Amino acid sequence: MQEGTLLAGLPRIDAGADARGPRRLFVKSYGCQMNVYDSQRMADALAREGFVAADQPDDADVIILNTCHIREKAAEKVYSELGRLRKLKDGAATAGRRVMVAVAGCVAQAEGEEIIRRAPVVDLVVGPQSYHRLPDLLARAELGGGVVDTEFPAEDKFTVLPPASRAAIRARGVTAFVTVQEGCDKFCTFCVVPYTRGAEVSRPVVQIVEEVSRLADAGVREVTLIGQNVNAYHGAGPDGRPWTLARLMTRVAEIPGIARLRYTTSHPRDMLDDLIAAHRDLPQLMPFLHLPVQSGSDRILAAMNRRHTRADYLRLVERLRRAQPALALSSDFIVGFPGEGDQDFRDTVGLVEEVGFAGAFSFKYSPRPGTPAATMESQAPEPLKVERLAVLQAAIDRRQAAFNAGCLGRTFDVLMEKPGRRPVQLVGRSPYLQAVQALAPPQMIGQVVPVTIVEVGSNSLFGVVNEASGRTRPEPLAAVPGA
Ligand code: 5AD
Ligand code: SF4
Repeated sequence: MQEGTLLAGLPRIDAGADARGPRRLFVKSYGCQMNVYDSQRMADALAREGFVAADQPDDADVIILNTCHIREKAAEKVYSELGRLRKLKDGAATAGRRVMVAVAGCVAQAEGEEIIRRAPVVDLVVGPQSYHRLPDLLARAELGGGVVDTEFPAEDKFTVLPPASRAAIRARGVTAFVTVQEGCDKFCTFCVVPYTRGAEVSRPVVQIVEEVSRLADAGVREVTLIGQNVNAYHGAGPDGRPWTLARLMTRVAEIPGIARLRYTTSHPRDMLDDLIAAHRDLPQLMPFLHLPVQSGSDRILAAMNRRHTRADYLRLVERLRRAQPALALSSDFIVGFPGEGDQDFRDTVGLVEEVGFAGAFSFKYSPRPGTPAATMESQAPEPLKVERLAVLQAAIDRRQAAFNAGCLGRTFDVLMEKPGRRPVQLVGRSPYLQAVQALAPPQMIGQVVPVTIVEVGSNSLFGVVNEASGRTRPEPLAAVPGA
């Protein structure tokens, strides 16, 4: 989860440039990686209209909040931000400058017109399926009165949205997200996604290959294929038949320049045999898998409509580890789901130990209007949720610390991403997404280099570039405590 991600990739001009110069855009992204990707695509669409990036909202002519609706707190943040923007907009108006405010993303989709009623500062509400209409919608919003578009249009936004320019891709760095699938048909009883993002839709293989090829041409070395339920991918292949995610990744791995692949987020029910085999057979696929389980209790998993049991999940983990012994896992958990008893919760904490997750996100259950769980009886009181979250998070933190400690002395392939804080220092990522700092020259950015870990910090690993080793896969994790 990323909160408040700002946007890179638009051309920049000085804050002091002529007021009649290009219009400036500021996008703030909340929530998941899908939103980060969407924010970039919206920026690409407006770059075509001559927009440049503003460094902060105060300098912008158009401000877009790309919002998240997954938990109540996430949605509330949007309204407090809109309060701040009202002052900013009023201030600009007094100085004779018009500022447009747009709300995009899942809050836009879920609340529509209600947003403008509650926050009249908003000029435009645009749902995730209408981003390709953004230039037109903004032009309409400029006429006043507030514009709302939360349709699920017939046309495919991905065929209409312009691709990122080479300069924008380079500014975003050597790793990139690519949405391959949107929406969800699973209907977990706690989740708003099937309502805000709609039914599962997969992009065609050719479209994805084209997009990744452009990214690779401009220097991207690692691509994360993303979707709300990414492993349910079933896009049309060039042969006209539906392709699985594993088949898609095998094709994407052939694109020159692509050194690493990842995918997220997956549902345990859709871990098909060929996807498990890809963890064994596809060297570009990183041995790190985010596989949300949500709970370790069968009773709660059933109430959540997860359609898998604790034993199913454990069996799946065992199969994945058999296919790829170096695999590390992360997960999502919800505590305080309606009806969760002490034993259910103990089962969840026990699962953290049993699987030995390398990391995980944990959340207090947040009732979402319109979802079945919101009206279930025996909603848990807030203090119980707070207490359980602390206990679970401590268990997760212990496993994560053990996992990181087990990396000491090991040699990983690290993709160097950007300069570090000190001179001649670069920061990259291990196969397990850990930040790794090492002394290395700037020309190593974009290269995958073997790094031996010499120190484990709380937020990152420190390593020494090991020119002699030619390893391309990490060693199996058998020696890592708790793996
Ligand atoms: N309350 C708390 N957490 C939730 N998540 C999804 N919906 C809710 C909710 N209503 C969590 C799940 C999911 C992650 C993205 O957010 O753990 O995997
Ligand atoms: Fe938030 Fe979920 Fe929408 Fe992503 S898909 S923005 S996490 S509600």
